[in-house]
Amino acid sequence: MKKATAIAHPNIAFIKYWGDKDPDLRIPVNGSLSMNLDNLYSRTTVEFDPGFKRDELTIGGRVPVDIAIQRVAQFLDYVRHLAGFSAYARVTSENNFPTGSGIASSASGFAALSLAASAAAGLDLDQPALSRLARRGSGSACRSVPGGFVEWKAGQDDETSYAFSIAAFDYWDLHDCIAIVSKEHKETGSVAGHILAGSSLLQDARVADTQRRLDLCRQAILKRDFHAFANIVELDSNLMHAVMMTSQPQLYYWRPATLAVMQSVIEWRTEGMPVCFTIDAGPNVHVITTGEYSSAVVAKLNRIPGVIEVLVSHPGKEARLIED
Ligand code: DP6
Repeated sequence: MKKATAIAHPNIAFIKYWGDKDPDLRIPVNGSLSMNLDNLYSRTTVEFDPGFKRDELTIGGRVPVDIAIQRVAQFLDYVRHLAGFSAYARVTSENNFPTGSGIASSASGFAALSLAASAAAGLDLDQPALSRLARRGSGSACRSVPGGFVEWKAGQDDETSYAFSIAAFDYWDLHDCIAIVSKEHKETGSVAGHILAGSSLLQDARVADTQRRLDLCRQAILKRDFHAFANIVELDSNLMHAVMMTSQPQLYYWRPATLAVMQSVIEWRTEGMPVCFTIDAGPNVHVITTGEYSSAVVAKLNRIPGVIEVLVSHPGKEARLIED
């Protein structure tokens, strides 16, 4: 039995994952596309030992709530099943971004956990297999396994649903300027949100059009065409939030400052700046621009009332093992 440590970055989805065909295996209703965020990461150490009495988990030095421990224990059960042993594990995880900053840690957390746990268990998984494993912990985590710009092929079942890189981290110098407008913990997390997605009349229309949006977004990235990229990224984010707002019960993630940032971004683009917004299941706004304009965008964002802080990230690499 061994010990292994891995780091992985969170990712921001340009074409969003919202709703599952199979919630247990996290097979999504639609494919999605994202960019890893280099400046943010989770670092996770896993140690299996036949002497341990149960799985133990700390995140940032603290024992998390029971539901988080159960989710990790269930995930480790699957790793043990693959490896063919029953020893419990000690899992120590840290994020370099504060929990509750509105940045989801489940993608980077489960990507790092997949790599560290599989390595510690002696499993030698290739990247698609690792991505499939991470998907079982958190859907978007499968996109944090490969590097740079990443597409998740929805697939039909466990074998066909995984993510792969479409361009390396240094292919396009895009920056994500994350405008934090609230640090409160979100009321409805994505686990519950994915279940509610099908209750919106708009979900079928959103899903039916996804392949077109994926193709346009992939092409825009490969051509480094910011104008085409901005149009499709904002449309996709708006479609997902329209589904959220028309779910039963309705999910409203936006705050007044969220909308203020969105409107400013549209205005700046009209004035000629390469800038667009995208929003996940929370009120904070990911403002995407090119490296050249990044500091100007941060300065403008900081002047909007309600913006507490701006975090900047460029495209990040794949999940990787590191020395302890
Ligand atoms: C809005 O991957 O966080 O960020 O599988 O339940 O952990 P779980 O869901 P998660 O859902 C991500 C939703 C999203 C869009 C996206 O990242 O594609």
